[in-house]
Amino acid sequence: MATLIRVDQIAAYEGQEVTVRGWVYNRTDKGKLCFLLVRDGYGYVQCVAFKGDLPEELFDRMVRLPQESAVIVQGTVRKDGRAPGIPGGYEISVRDLQIVHEAALDYPMALKEHGVDFALDHRHLWIRMPSQWAVLRVRAKVIQAAREWLNANGFINMDTPILTPNAVEGTTTLFETQYFDEGSAYLTQSGQLYNEANIYAFGKVYCFGPTFRAEKSKTRRHLTEFWMLEPEMAFTDLDGLMEVEEQLISHIVQTVLRECQPELKSLKRDTTRLEKVQPPFPRISYDEAAEILRQIYEQESDPERKELLRFEWGMDFGSPHETELTNRFEKPVFVYGYPTAVKAFYMQPWPGRPEVCKSVDLLAPEGYGEICGGSERIYDYDLLLERIRQHNLPQEAFKWYLDLRKYGSVPHAGFGMGVERVTAWLCGIEHVREAIPFPRTIKRVYP
Ligand code: 4AD
Ligand code: MG
Repeated sequence: MATLIRVDQIAAYEGQEVTVRGWVYNRTDKGKLCFLLVRDGYGYVQCVAFKGDLPEELFDRMVRLPQESAVIVQGTVRKDGRAPGIPGGYEISVRDLQIVHEAALDYPMALKEHGVDFALDHRHLWIRMPSQWAVLRVRAKVIQAAREWLNANGFINMDTPILTPNAVEGTTTLFETQYFDEGSAYLTQSGQLYNEANIYAFGKVYCFGPTFRAEKSKTRRHLTEFWMLEPEMAFTDLDGLMEVEEQLISHIVQTVLRECQPELKSLKRDTTRLEKVQPPFPRISYDEAAEILRQIYEQESDPERKELLRFEWGMDFGSPHETELTNRFEKPVFVYGYPTAVKAFYMQPWPGRPEVCKSVDLLAPEGYGEICGGSERIYDYDLLLERIRQHNLPQEAFKWYLDLRKYGSVPHAGFGMGVERVTAWLCGIEHVREAIPFPRTIKRVYP
């Protein structure tokens, strides 16, 4: 009996008789030879059949097999540097073939160029293609590596609710839903507030789940449903927070580089800059960043670009600003101490400078921009109450959150990492919508 193998492990079976179960991704016929590129979920492998080796009727069916037909292939693994596939370099000489399902002939995602909208309408089929498959495998590795690092470093996973009574990141991006007789409930924008409760029971926690933003922005970095990993720590200040962030991000990047080579190669990702992602990351203050941006703005001579780069102290960064800033560094860069006015209500003020808060964003190189956002949280009861009022938030809904400042309140901090943004950066892809299996954007809830 031939051993059932996974295509990613094919190198270990050179010269052996194996079985692969999968789907026909491509087929080429050359007279007496038929080449099937078979994908099994783990990789793509070339299977070569010679007419004389198979019953005539089977070979005839094989040369007519439509793309996406399901097959079980048996044969011998041969090393051949030219063999296409992922990881590639090996092929299977077919001894036997079982056709489990002959696919319909009208496969919409046939091997030709497709427009983005067409591809997104067929996302349920598009994910079978090597580029999409590779990105989603990297995404899974990002999540696995992140959990690994957090679990190994004393963080405990605490899942936070998705249906919530209040806003976390501003009231303009809330998805609202009727909650029985209780009035409105909202899809969560972040698990942070609950994690702030969890740290008082567990010290260091993280939540990981879907988060929702009714973002009107149609950029390549925004989804309306995205996945966020949110660590939160008691007895921690901004410096302690940045140390955790740079270690976590470095662990994720180095794990993906080590374990996703076939995927990154198939995406033609140049990994030179990713290899440099090791602690420490550069840290600059918002003030310094603002000064750099002001100079860039003043020196720009092209009027159109100048308008895009317009910058004054107090503004939030747009993506052209983030790109300009990150271009000056090899590694991801921390920008800390943003103006209080552009950040969330819960951020701790800078001592002696209330117009600035103890926030920090981590900006990725190569134009990817903000991948993590975090801060120290206000731990004083009266100040927090004042902020809730200033932001016109419903005090009643925040009663439990205020309680946390009454019973054992300590300096604490946390951040959120956007899984799709990190994945898009590591894969070098243009848009975050390809970094999630079924993207949700303003114009898309199908499929
Ligand atoms: O900066 P944000 O809004 O921070 C928070 O939500 C905090 N409450 C997190 C915390 O401190 N626990 O979002 C964090 C990250 C961003 O840096 C970005 O990577 C990602 O989440 N993100 C999005 N990703 C895709 N589409 C969107 N619309 C996103 N909004 C934020
Ligand atoms: Mg942010």
